[in-house]
Amino acid sequence: MASNSFGVIFKITTWGESHGKAMGVVIDGCPAGLSLEESDIYTELAWRAPGRNTLMSPRIEPDKPEILSGVFDGKTTGAPISILIPNSDADSSKYEPIKNLLRPGHANYTYLEKYGIFDYRGNGRASARETVCRVAAGAIAKKLLSHYGIKLVAYLKQIGTVSAKVLHKDITQLIQTTKQSAVFCPEAKASETMIKLIEETKERGDSLGGIVEFVADGLPTGLGDPIYEKLEANLAHAMLSLPATKGFEIGSGFQSVLMNGSEHNDIFIKEEGIIRTKTNHAGGTLGGISNGMPLVGRVAFKPTSSISHEQETLTLEKEAAAIKLPSGSRNDPCVAIRAVPVVEAMAALVLADSLLLNKCSRL
Ligand SMILES: Cc1cc2nc3c(=O)[nH]c(=O)nc-3n(C[C@H](O)[C@H](O)[C@H](O)COP(=O)(O)O)c2cc1C
Repeated sequence: MASNSFGVIFKITTWGESHGKAMGVVIDGCPAGLSLEESDIYTELAWRAPGRNTLMSPRIEPDKPEILSGVFDGKTTGAPISILIPNSDADSSKYEPIKNLLRPGHANYTYLEKYGIFDYRGNGRASARETVCRVAAGAIAKKLLSHYGIKLVAYLKQIGTVSAKVLHKDITQLIQTTKQSAVFCPEAKASETMIKLIEETKERGDSLGGIVEFVADGLPTGLGDPIYEKLEANLAHAMLSLPATKGFEIGSGFQSVLMNGSEHNDIFIKEEGIIRTKTNHAGGTLGGISNGMPLVGRVAFKPTSSISHEQETLTLEKEAAAIKLPSGSRNDPCVAIRAVPVVEAMAALVLADSLLLNKCSRL
């Protein structure tokens, strides 16, 4: 299986299966001298962990990361950083009764076609358990960004038809309000309505999709290369490499088709001697290069494929069959909630890599 790595200078390689012994990530290219403790990584993993409340999968993983290499005396040495995260609450019994069925919305059909073998216990590499490695690496990328004065936050913007109104004026406050919400939605009223909607949908044995938005502030101009490695292209690659994603937007995104150029063009202004724009429809990039305005993007997640309803399907031998998940199966009713820290991590990885790459753009 190829392609388990992401990034050019700040490059990660992840390994491990959902019901294997452990998950792991190797981070290559992190500059030496960055202070780093296991607790920095643990804090980020705790935001992503399942079982935090009844709105997510009840799998309980302590997600205690162990740094195996690349750190000495609390500082990165420049050597590859290797992180191990044990799997301790895998329950393969729920997968046994459905192992000979094609699971609607899941990866077992395509994996079987491609590799001829599929780890049905927890879906192996197709499982979102892999994203724990991305969040571990993202924790380090976020520390690097913070060293350069860059702040980053992701939050739940929409679930089903319930959308939050979010202002990007004060990113520090946005981080705080996001973390106070059980669903990572910074607007209290929308957060409450979302929780009700999830509870009702879960009760009916169904699932919901959602949109995760991210904002990065304090970016210098110049990140991103203008042709095949445009900043937004790399962000789209990062986000669409996540399981269950169905769309990516930057700035005004798909809504921009409803505007005229006269409305959409962001007018340049001088603010305290710095070039800014009056509006930010571009979402922080021009020509694939960061323009110093906040970077704003959105990721669409489909409704969770695993639902309690019985569904039609086929057996692996192509016979008509019905699939119903065994009772007690553990699933997120809306994956977009737990995807919030993962989107943040992927944005951090792209930005950290872009920052380091930008150091060789001119004399
Ligand atoms: C954080 C996160 C948690 C997820 N949890 C579940 C889950 O509990 N149940 C499920 O059916 N899919 C879940 N998914 C999505 C599946 O992993 C994914 O839909 C499946 O592997 C098929 O891949 P695809 O949707 O990218 O085509 C989750 C995705 C993310 C990002």
